[in-house]
Amino acid sequence: MNPILLTGMHGTVAPAVAAELQKRGAAVVAWDRRRVPPERPEEARAFLDSVQPSAVVHCAMGDPGWAAWLAQACARQDRPFLFTGSASVYGKHQTGPFTPDQVPEPDDDYGRYKLDCERRVREANPGARIVRLGWQIALRPGGNQMVDFLCRRHAERGHIHASTAWFPACSFLHDTARVLVDVLERFEPGTYLLDGNPGMDFFQIVTALDRAMRAGWTIHATDDFRFNNLMRDDRLPRAALSLG
Ligand SMILES: NC(=O)c1ccc[n+]([C@@H]2O[C@H](COP(=O)([O-])OP(=O)(O)OC[C@H]3O[C@@H](n4cnc5c(N)ncnc54)[C@H](OP(=O)(O)O)[C@@H]3O)[C@@H](O)[C@H]2O)c1
Repeated sequence: MNPILLTGMHGTVAPAVAAELQKRGAAVVAWDRRRVPPERPEEARAFLDSVQPSAVVHCAMGDPGWAAWLAQACARQDRPFLFTGSASVYGKHQTGPFTPDQVPEPDDDYGRYKLDCERRVREANPGARIVRLGWQIALRPGGNQMVDFLCRRHAERGHIHASTAWFPACSFLHDTARVLVDVLERFEPGTYLLDGNPGMDFFQIVTALDRAMRAGWTIHATDDFRFNNLMRDDRLPRAALSLG
């Protein structure tokens, strides 16, 4: 079986996806941008030809053109392509829980960038799978995820302000990886919303994480930030937060 190609392996999500794929017996190859810059099409093409991936999971940030190019290469070869989108495509003026039929209206550069990537991927490859993710959680500091943010915030300020009026889309990284691989392996093409939050507000989440990790954080409840970007998608298994 040819390997599955992953981009963004220096990031947070891709290594978890790689671990899940390997657990299921798949071989994985990382796209090393230092060795093969995506903006050099000939080198990129030669690299893809040498790997002959059986599927591509595109987790890296970077040029939307790269995402579209990869998506198109997979379409030509009839290989599955999965792109990790973001709940940030929904603007603050929109209120969740969002469902797949709702049209995102991003209100910041990151959200607009992610939506642009989605559009370019869909145009290049109608068979692509796009999965919008919420904020990732791992029960340790490090990486681009909620607990790392909370640890740094507490170290800087000696406390954490957590709004009871904020309902963030989020999921544990290992649950996210499991669902992404499920979608890659056996779900129809389309755009999916992956959110494990059963309806907890940010204060409840931070309190539960503090308990689970025995972190000893000082947490103040506020209601200054009001936002609900929960997502619901009945096609996906609920990657429950299970924070207890
Ligand atoms: N982490 C979250 O909470 C979260 C939430 C929602 C959505 N997502 C989405 O999930 C995907 C992965 O997220 P992540 O948290 O793993 O991201 P990350 O930690 O920020 O890493 C993204 C990776 O993309 C690559 N990259 C960064 N800048 C780049 C550039 N200018 N051009 C090309 N590649 C670049 C790098 O990997 P290499 O050096 O290996 O190429 C980097 O490690 C992203 O698409 C993100 O939008 C993440």
